[in-house]
Amino acid sequence: MSNEFDNKIKDLNNESVHSLDQCETQESLENWRVDFLGRRGRIALLLREIPKLDSKERGDAGFKANQLKNMLQKLFDQKVQDLNSLISSENNQEFDVTLPSRYIDRGTYHPTTQVVREISEAFYNMGFQIIDGPEVEQDVYNFQKLNIPAHHPARDMWNSLWVDKLSDSGETPLLLRTHTSPMQIRILENHKPPIRVLVPGKAYRYEATDATHEWQFFQIEGLVIDENITFANLKGTLEEFAQRIFGEKRKARFRCDFFPFVEPGAEMSIDCFKCDGNGCRVCGESGWIEILGAGMVHPEVLKGVGYDPNKYSGFAFGMGAERIAMLKHGIDDIRNFYSNDLRFLKQFSY
Ligand code: PHE
Repeated sequence: MSNEFDNKIKDLNNESVHSLDQCETQESLENWRVDFLGRRGRIALLLREIPKLDSKERGDAGFKANQLKNMLQKLFDQKVQDLNSLISSENNQEFDVTLPSRYIDRGTYHPTTQVVREISEAFYNMGFQIIDGPEVEQDVYNFQKLNIPAHHPARDMWNSLWVDKLSDSGETPLLLRTHTSPMQIRILENHKPPIRVLVPGKAYRYEATDATHEWQFFQIEGLVIDENITFANLKGTLEEFAQRIFGEKRKARFRCDFFPFVEPGAEMSIDCFKCDGNGCRVCGESGWIEILGAGMVHPEVLKGVGYDPNKYSGFAFGMGAERIAMLKHGIDDIRNFYSNDLRFLKQFSY
């Protein structure tokens, strides 16, 4: 075989193997394939020279050229495989489908919010409107129009956080509302009967905190006013509410209580949902749990906002949302609600 052709094969061998080594991407590999093994590539060109050779040399030349072609095809196939497995293992490092997913930390509703929503929904379904009111309130609304004049001893029931000092004339100084009852007056002043509203909102008292008292807490106030509203309506409505929140079997008990803005006034208890009234830790062995204060709106209150108490009557009630949440969840210290300990708060997620 001519030395010339032999050298061409050797050169092509060196060059092709070397440049295949340099290929690191699928694109460069494809370019290499076109250059060397393609239909118009270097090997094809070499093969096309064979017929021009001396007839004695052709057999040997063809054999060697084909040997090179086959060898390059094998190297190329191997390289393609290597590169593919390298790429897929790199991809796997970025996205390992066997890894557990990353935990997404979702917020949960505060237990007070949950209870306020549950109670609001129960009353909403009984035809109540849900409304909101100011937390900084005037003395007139927080006390005076609720039948609690300046210097009246009943004010001791609500130790107040004053924003503005109580003046001697009893003129509207400002305070953080000590209950949601001032909204009774605001509603009576701005709406016409029939009235059925529920007012959830914050209240504040100037008090030392302990397991059952906080200086800020949530109250839920209710007011119903129309012609011919009686104490029976009060009982029926509140009993229905208790059954919706604490279970169908609940019985309600009403006993006399005093609030200056209702007459008669009452406190409502339910038979203990834990022990069914037999006596346990939750109900302090009494079988009954007090859950709210209520009463028929005082005629003086109605007169004060221009209603004729002979035509209109109604009832009001107020309850502490945290207290209800404590009962429902068996929480024994109200201070947990505002100490922002997530370990506590997370237990009430749903
Ligand atoms: N506002 C009263 C309190 O905070 C509760 C109450 C509301 C009582 C409505 C009767 C009627 O103690």
